[in-house]
Amino acid sequence: MTDSKVYNDYFFDEPVFDLHDGGYVPLEKADDVPDKPLNIPAALKPDKVDGNDVYYTITAQEGETQILPGAKTKTWGYNAALLGTTIVLKKGVHYHVHLVNKLTEVTTFHWHGLNVTGPIVDGGPHAPVYPGGSRDIDFTLDQPAQTDWIHPHPCPNTARQVWNGLAAAVVVTDDEEAKLPFPRNYGVDDIPVILQDRNYHDNQLDYKADYDMDGTEGKYALVNGTINGVFDVTTQKVRLRILNGSDRREWRLHFDDEHEFTQIASDGGTLPAPVKFTKLMLTCAERAEVIVDFGDKKPGDVVTLMTDNIPIMKFKIGEYAADNSVLPDKLTTIDAPEVTPGLPVTRTVMSGMDDQVRLDGKLFDMQRIDRKQKIGDTVLWDVVNTNDMDGGMIHPFHMHGCQFLVLSRNGKAPYPNEHGWKDTVGVNAGETVRIAVQFTKFGVYMYHCHILEHEDTGMMAQIEAYDPNEKHTYHLLSMDEMNHPSK
Ligand code: C2O
Ligand code: CU
Ligand code: CU
Repeated sequence: MTDSKVYNDYFFDEPVFDLHDGGYVPLEKADDVPDKPLNIPAALKPDKVDGNDVYYTITAQEGETQILPGAKTKTWGYNAALLGTTIVLKKGVHYHVHLVNKLTEVTTFHWHGLNVTGPIVDGGPHAPVYPGGSRDIDFTLDQPAQTDWIHPHPCPNTARQVWNGLAAAVVVTDDEEAKLPFPRNYGVDDIPVILQDRNYHDNQLDYKADYDMDGTEGKYALVNGTINGVFDVTTQKVRLRILNGSDRREWRLHFDDEHEFTQIASDGGTLPAPVKFTKLMLTCAERAEVIVDFGDKKPGDVVTLMTDNIPIMKFKIGEYAADNSVLPDKLTTIDAPEVTPGLPVTRTVMSGMDDQVRLDGKLFDMQRIDRKQKIGDTVLWDVVNTNDMDGGMIHPFHMHGCQFLVLSRNGKAPYPNEHGWKDTVGVNAGETVRIAVQFTKFGVYMYHCHILEHEDTGMMAQIEAYDPNEKHTYHLLSMDEMNHPSK
C-alpha cells in the first residue's frame, strides 16, 4: 500500500488545458490589489439543536464586499455578502433546513455531493424558491466525512448566480474520519480554499459583459472571494479543503517553491491511501482535501500557492509547535460495490463546444426522464467526451444523488488521486471514463457537464433512480413553471 512516490504531473491531457481554446481568458497577476487577510467563511450556527435534530436557515441574499481598492462590489452570498457561511454536517444527524430567498429572482439551493433525495431536497431546478419566498427541507445525513458545497441550480441562470457569488462550502464530519490524524480545527488549521476567477467593471461584476458560451472567466484569481489573500499559518500542518467553484476555469495548483502536499480526500471523502504531489489539477466542481506540512519553514517565511505562473494566495508562516504526527499508509477502506451482473454498460456522450454542446445528442428538457436505474444496482457507465472541435476541451461530468468510483480512463488506470468516491470527473477530449454508479435513494437526479455555461445551455439530463416495489410519481416542472410561479 505504501506509495512514497511524489507525483509532479497534472495527469490531464495537456492539449486540452483550458488555455488552448479560443475563448480562454488568461489570469493576470493582480499587482493593483494589495495583499489582505484571506477571507475564512464563518461556520453557520444552527438555529436550534434538539437531540439528533439540528435546524439551520440558509438565506440567499445580496450584499457588498470590499474586493478591489475603492468602491465595494455588489455580491451575492448565503447568509453572507459573498459566497456563504460554511455548513458543517455530521453523519447520522437529522437536519431541518429553512431555505430563504431574499434575492429579486428565483433561485434553488443545490447540495452538490450530498446523497439526498431528488429532485426536491437535492435542490435542482425542480425545487425553485421564489423571490421573498422560502422552502423547508429535511434529510438525515448518511454519508462519510467529505467536502461538498451548495450552489444555485435554476435553469438557465446557474452560471450567472454563481458568478454573482452564491457558493458555500459544506463540511461533512463522521466518527471514522475523526480518528485520523488530520488537522480539523476549522479556520485555524483546516480551511476552505474556494477557487474562482472574476472580472470587474468599475469594481462591479457584469456577467453579460464577460459571458462566454464555453464558460465565463475573469482575469483575477480569488480564493474565498479574496484577491491576493494571505493566510497566517500557526500550525505545522494545514488542511486545505480545495473546491473549484469556478464557472469554467481549471486550476493547476502548485507552490512557488514546488513544496510537496498530500491529498487525503477527493469529492466523496477520505482516499484509501494518501497521495503526495507537487502539482494538482482540479476541473470545475471537483474537490481535493490536502495537507501541507510546513515543517521545513521558519517564522517569517512565505509560501505562495500558484496556478500555472499566477500567484493566487500566500501562506505566511508564524510560530508553530512541532507536529510529528504521521499519516498512516492506509486511511480508509472503500467498499466498492459488486457490479450487478447482466446489465449493459450505460454510455453517455458529451459533445460539442459553444452552442453545439449536447448530452447524448440532446439539449436538456426538465420534463423528460432520460434514463432509469434501479436502486441498489451497480451499473458501469462509460462517460465519453467526443469533442474534437478546435482540439476539444475537458468536460467535467457530474452526477447528483450518488458518489461513483472511477474505474478507468480509455481502458487505463485512473489518476492516482481517483481511487476514492467522486461525484465529478474531468473527461479529456476523445476520452472514455468508465465509472461504477449506484443509487441508494429513489428520485430524479441531474447529470451534466459542470462547466456552468454548458449546463445552462443544456448539456444536462435526468435519471430516475427507482425502486420496483415502490411507485413514485414526480411532478417535473417545465422551465417556464420554474421561472414564473403564477403560471
Ligand atoms: Cu454542482 Cu448539478 O451541480
Ligand atoms: Cu450537484
Ligand atoms: Cu462541458
